[in-house]
Amino acid sequence: MFQYYCLNPISKIGLENFTEEFVNTHDVNEAQGILVRSAAMHDMELSENLLAVARAGAGVNNIPLDKCAEKGIVVFNTPGANANGVKELVIAGMLLASRDIVGGINWVESAKDNPDIAKATEKEKKRFAGTELQNKKLGIIGLGAIGVKVANVAKYMGMEVYGYDPYVSVDAAWNLSRDVKHVLNVEEIYKSCDIITIHVPLLDSTKGMINKEAISKMKDGVILLNFARDLLANEEDVLEGIKEGKIRKYVSDFPNPVTAGQEGCVVIPHLGASTEESEDNCAKMAVKQMMNYLKNGNIINS
Ligand code: MLT
Repeated sequence: MFQYYCLNPISKIGLENFTEEFVNTHDVNEAQGILVRSAAMHDMELSENLLAVARAGAGVNNIPLDKCAEKGIVVFNTPGANANGVKELVIAGMLLASRDIVGGINWVESAKDNPDIAKATEKEKKRFAGTELQNKKLGIIGLGAIGVKVANVAKYMGMEVYGYDPYVSVDAAWNLSRDVKHVLNVEEIYKSCDIITIHVPLLDSTKGMINKEAISKMKDGVILLNFARDLLANEEDVLEGIKEGKIRKYVSDFPNPVTAGQEGCVVIPHLGASTEESEDNCAKMAVKQMMNYLKNGNIINS
């Protein structure tokens, strides 16, 4: 028998894939396997029983990788399993930034008791006018599972798409629309794109990559999106860029006290992967990985 513990609520459909030798324990110290979404595990004591951590998601920055390596605990993630959910929210993020949907909805809410709301709308709507995505230049930094999907949809929407990734995989290159311009230098994205979206992992080399210096190289009025990881952008520098008019809109899937609620910022409570389908896919993959490892010692990454 094997015992697993869910640190976050994990999709029931995914958990149904566990065979009967696996039981859900409510005592984390008993568990040979932990399933986790984005809850931070850095302060957790890792018991001697623990053999594997399966992250139902892509990013592993919530897991103490060094501590796990020291104790020989295997860490899995589920690359690509929620890429479709994130991609769809990124596209929504671009639309939220280019059309003042949030401002418009808030205004309607505030005017809901006005019996002449239709007339009032005619007077007000000019200030919510936006711009279109078609023919705009989109820069995608990071051409992994999500970046590639965003590129292909953006292409269909008539955008001119530029992609940058120093480690583009054969798979990604194959799945990427032939019309995406793969640039060899991130500066090219900064200087030429109207909208920039980041899809890289959080590493020492990427932490704070969207900072004052990077922003200064961008086009005036750029729209910036971060649906990848918290801390990739220096939020103070972003806010300053907004105040100076350099950044037109910042859309982030990572609530942060600096940018939350600020003019020019659209902040979403980390919902990229929060769809039924993505949650089920991630949980199924994480369960499969954990079973394979605990039962057979096999390490699979799909
Ligand atoms: C991910 O890294 O894939 C996301 O953070 C998933 C999640 O929301 O749990």
